[in-house]
Amino acid sequence: MAFQKSPGTQDILPSTVERWQYVERKAREICSRFNFREIRTPMFESTELFQRGVGETTDIVEKEMYTFTDRGDRSITLRPEGTAGVVRSYVENKLYGEPDVSKLYYIGPMFRYERQQAGRYRQFHQFGVEALGAVDPALDAEVIALGYTFYTEVGLKGVRVELNSVGTPEVRAAFRERLLAFLQPKRELLCKDCQSRMERNPLRVLDCKVDQKHFEGAPSILDSLDEECNVHFEKVKAYLNAMNIPYEINPRLVRGLDYYTHTAFEYKAEGIGAIDTVGGGGRYNGLVAEIGGPDQPGIGFGLGIERTIMLLEHQQTVTEEAGQIDVYFVGLGDAAERETVRLVYELRKAGFRAERDYLSRKMKAQMKSADRLNARYTAILGDDELERGEIALKSMVDGEQRVVPLNGLAEALANG
Ligand code: HAM
Repeated sequence: MAFQKSPGTQDILPSTVERWQYVERKAREICSRFNFREIRTPMFESTELFQRGVGETTDIVEKEMYTFTDRGDRSITLRPEGTAGVVRSYVENKLYGEPDVSKLYYIGPMFRYERQQAGRYRQFHQFGVEALGAVDPALDAEVIALGYTFYTEVGLKGVRVELNSVGTPEVRAAFRERLLAFLQPKRELLCKDCQSRMERNPLRVLDCKVDQKHFEGAPSILDSLDEECNVHFEKVKAYLNAMNIPYEINPRLVRGLDYYTHTAFEYKAEGIGAIDTVGGGGRYNGLVAEIGGPDQPGIGFGLGIERTIMLLEHQQTVTEEAGQIDVYFVGLGDAAERETVRLVYELRKAGFRAERDYLSRKMKAQMKSADRLNARYTAILGDDELERGEIALKSMVDGEQRVVPLNGLAEALANG
């Protein structure tokens, strides 16, 4: 039996890879304008980093990690997200010792053992940013604006920003009690998942996708914020307004990872089956200390690249054309075919995109290849032309053909 890819993984074939490159290029370009620099951290880390960083009671750590013991008897986990590794690297390499805020970004694969559905994979890719070393709400607004600009500039329509403040751990603990007092009497009415979430993370109950009708009149975390949280949240909103970034307040927005404090946000869009979140992030002021570093704050996001590409396809956004070949060589006869090997190589070195036939096909079939590759020119070389030191150059745009000296080919192509 032939092999098949593992469930939840994808082959990115040449027919779609240009779209990936386009999205990645946009991400890099925008990060450079916002002065974020790339960081590349390992694809696997010690399991404990994620237990501590992402949180023991999150779905990710409880059920979704690819964890194994390596030959040195260490527990290793394929990264389920990017933040923990970046923070580990920030601490290990003492980036906090640098005078400026660390504004970092990454693009790469993440791994979660999740139930497969449209837009949900076991190996997926994130474009993420992390800004470490400042509590300034301007940085929260900048990070939210960066993600929003990314979606806009790749050409997506209808991406919305949802914003909330999840407060500090103290605020959350007090809110948790208020919320539990509200939820307890309704316990039996809630869905199975919510009943079990009530024990572990009651804030997530309000985010229930099954049934929202029991939550009318539920307390809002925004009413439980203390002075410091309120001031921070108000400033984030004011800065977003100043930049004209549209957003909606969603007091029920809670993220699936434990490290968030203050600002939490998600990017939403229709068009990926049942899933409407295309990216999310927030502030994490306790995380650096939690994994053994100094008390440095941070904020960031992770955006799913598969989901971005699915949306681009769903909205039929025109991205980039497949690249055009400059010249396709048609060689007829042994000697001519040998000469095309040299010519193709010379032109490639000179900066042209050149291709030839490898199947000793008839002229007609070779011309068809040139068409399929969207070549600007075909260069036709038979033994006769070779003897005269010439080659026929045919424009695939207007069909016009001329004869040029073999050593004048690059010049002829350059001059169109
Ligand atoms: P997250 O919400 O778990 O956050 O993931 C961010 C994004 O990654 C999601 O919105 C989604 O687009 C994509 N994603 C997650 N899981 C899958 C999956 N199984 N298949 C396809 N796409 C997926 C984080 O990971 C945080 N580290 C974000 C962050 C950075 N917060 C602060 N800094």
